[in-house]
Amino acid sequence: MKLLYLSQNYEKLLDSSVTVNGWIQTVRAQKDLSFIKLNDGSNTDGVQLIVDLNLEEKSGNIEELNIGSSIRATGLLVKSPAQGQPYEIQVKKLEVLGLAPITDYPLSKGKLPLDYLRNYAHLRTRTQTFGSVFRIKSAISHATHEFFKSKGYLHVNPNIVTINECEGGAGVFQITEHDMSDHGKLPSLKDSTKHDWSRDHFSKPAYLTVSSQLQLEALSCALGSVYTTNKSFRSEHSTTNKHLSEFEHLEIEDAFITLDELMRVGEEYIKYVGKYLLDNCADDINNLGKFVSKGLHERIGKISTCEFKRIKYSEAIEILKKANGLSQPVVYGEDLCSEFENYLTEYFSGPVFVSHWPIAIKSFYMKQCTDGSGECENFDLLMPWKVGELIGGSMREDNLDAMLNVMKQKGVSPEPLEFYLDLRRFGTVPHGGFGLGLDRLCMMFTGMESIKDVVAFPVFYRNCCY
Ligand code: 4AD
Ligand code: MG
Repeated sequence: MKLLYLSQNYEKLLDSSVTVNGWIQTVRAQKDLSFIKLNDGSNTDGVQLIVDLNLEEKSGNIEELNIGSSIRATGLLVKSPAQGQPYEIQVKKLEVLGLAPITDYPLSKGKLPLDYLRNYAHLRTRTQTFGSVFRIKSAISHATHEFFKSKGYLHVNPNIVTINECEGGAGVFQITEHDMSDHGKLPSLKDSTKHDWSRDHFSKPAYLTVSSQLQLEALSCALGSVYTTNKSFRSEHSTTNKHLSEFEHLEIEDAFITLDELMRVGEEYIKYVGKYLLDNCADDINNLGKFVSKGLHERIGKISTCEFKRIKYSEAIEILKKANGLSQPVVYGEDLCSEFENYLTEYFSGPVFVSHWPIAIKSFYMKQCTDGSGECENFDLLMPWKVGELIGGSMREDNLDAMLNVMKQKGVSPEPLEFYLDLRRFGTVPHGGFGLGLDRLCMMFTGMESIKDVVAFPVFYRNCCY
């Protein structure tokens, strides 16, 4: 007897006795027969079981089996005479593992809206839609490591508890070992209401990281090409469908690279993942394409082959100034809102790298242009389908004096950044990198319109439920 995982090659097991485990997706009774669609989470469609209700070898109350119940079944794997599935199992032995009372089971009704399912993140993965989303997400992770390994990058996950803020405006979560619910017991400075950090875990303020970039720079300035798939944490009060408080952050850092090459790595990586998904996740892509994301297959095909346009920020502003019907004024020196991002990707009918932004609205670490333009060597990659900014990257300021200068201008304290300045003091090299939100990438490759639907247990402003 063989244990059949439903993603296995069925052909090889045809006409043999197999055992399957899983959760019931649908059940339909006809006289003494029950037709059960079972899935163990390993594939899109699961398998059909034909169960004779007068079966001799059974344990548990099989009359009460319903959607959500878990079972173990053994039987003969045969070609199915019915349309709709290639194989079925004629069950000889059935064991009820756990019933799911139909009146209480939150997923007992057929097609349920995504926002309803969000209330049951611990159960929604049993639906076909979320099964597909998380198998695709796993494939994205696999393709990511394959791609960077093939290019000679080293995978490193530096500390996520840090004393640095990296992206000034992104907002940090502070860390303490104390019980914040009892202010009376918190250590405070003598004659003051201020927290006494010297009596806290690290003897100083510490945060959850907003980006692993600064540590990656140090590693890159010794190991060459490195990347991380760490989590990053942001406390900004964003309620959009693209922002989380905790997200999966692919960040790369490369010594001796140029801005152009950096953009090329980003483009090649996204195309590689797209092709990998087309080759390895056809069933899940078709499933999502049929029910929740029309045209998904074509979209992934397009991403994998189309041109990624490259323009400068100043050109983007010129294009936007000529546009009709934008709801906000276009001003050089200001950030691009979602509406502007969407306009640009529609204008070029595809992905757009926008490079060379004014340093005044960008982070202190970005390499400044020496042409007096006030711009820096950076880029954002904007993606169509309302995904917007997917990557933010730049060359890093590698000149010590220029770095100290810009830190002063932007009010960045050098104290926790001495290690970072050392990289410029000792054997400085041109280097750069980027950060890409893997959850946003997954939105794009699954067609899900909310980032909350591509993360197993999404944590976002005013929501931390698990
Ligand atoms: O543009 P960001 O803030 O860049 C950085 O953090 C750099 N230090 C990265 C680097 O150069 N190593 O973030 C990079 C990307 C964004 O383009 C976006 O895709 C994603 O991270 N991102 C978020 N994803 C989900 N929720 C959030 N709150 C996000 N903030 C950024
Ligand atoms: Mg950004």
